[in-house]
Amino acid sequence: MPHRPLRKVKLPETSGRVFDAWLGQIEERLSERDCDRYRLCRQVLFDLYYPGIGDYDELLADTKTPLATRAVLLSLDPHNIALEPEYYHEIDVDRYAQVKPLLWLWQSFDRSPVGAGNVDVGVRFRRILAKHVFQRCGKNFKCFQFVQFSFGYNMDVADNVVVHRYVLLDDRMPIVLSNRVSVADYANIYTHSHSLVDQEDVSSSPTVLGPGVRITYHGTVLGGIEIGEQGMVGALGVATRDIKPYHVHLGIPAISKIVKSNAPPEARAQES
Ligand SMILES: CC(C)(COP(=O)(O)OP(=O)(O)OC[C@H]1O[C@@H](n2cnc3c(N)ncnc32)[C@H](O)[C@@H]1OP(=O)(O)O)[C@@H](O)C(=O)NCCC(=O)NCCS
Repeated sequence: MPHRPLRKVKLPETSGRVFDAWLGQIEERLSERDCDRYRLCRQVLFDLYYPGIGDYDELLADTKTPLATRAVLLSLDPHNIALEPEYYHEIDVDRYAQVKPLLWLWQSFDRSPVGAGNVDVGVRFRRILAKHVFQRCGKNFKCFQFVQFSFGYNMDVADNVVVHRYVLLDDRMPIVLSNRVSVADYANIYTHSHSLVDQEDVSSSPTVLGPGVRITYHGTVLGGIEIGEQGMVGALGVATRDIKPYHVHLGIPAISKIVKSNAPPEARAQES
């Protein structure tokens, strides 16, 4: 296969300066010890969705403001939003309250003109938030748009990790993404499952992806699975069992079909 490293893309200098200043402002506000994250979320979303249009409180209080508009204004404030993970039994309510405004800001930014497709600004914006949401966020975290988390605070992300579009990271328990993990578009990584008989019987355990693991497009990793260094789930595969280092699991349920050619001798044994 031809070697095709990513191209470099540069935004115009004038717009770049505005983006840099805006991102710098948000990063600075978030780093303040007494930062009101709910207020920050509301303000950033108001500026994004109602650019230059008056004052939030006045618009909301004005009875001439249409009800639908007031509903949207209310929805910019995470106090007025019920996110799905808040219904989960195992939530740490206090911890979630800390990250909720940033998760709501993340999701809502992704639907805005700045976040929906602008990779340059989007990756930097999400990196700023991730450092305040995740349990750990290593260097160069690269996250594309429309990624969903459960609690966010259970994400343990090492260096040079890439997460592509429309990925679901169900961190009801810890999800460990080691150095250089890559998660491709539409992949799902779970940490919980339900009993066949009783829907409310939920078991959960951490899911661990070792260094250099790749979950390719539309792959699914079930809760509690461990994938060794350089392991891989092929397109559309469902990993229902642990994957040994350098093994490529394919299909549903995914089984070891290939051992990578760069595998050390001890990793070469195929699964039966
Ligand atoms: C695994 C993959 C790389 C194919 O590897 P490959 O070495 O070229 O494998 P081949 O096409 O020679 O197929 C080997 C066998 O696996 C099967 N196979 C290949 N891909 C499969 C898949 N995704 N699911 C199920 N079976 C698959 C083939 O049918 C073949 O089976 P056979 O031996 O019974 O005939 C490819 O299927 C894949 O999943 N690519 C993901 C794309 C990717 O890299 N995305 C990341 C973007 S960041």
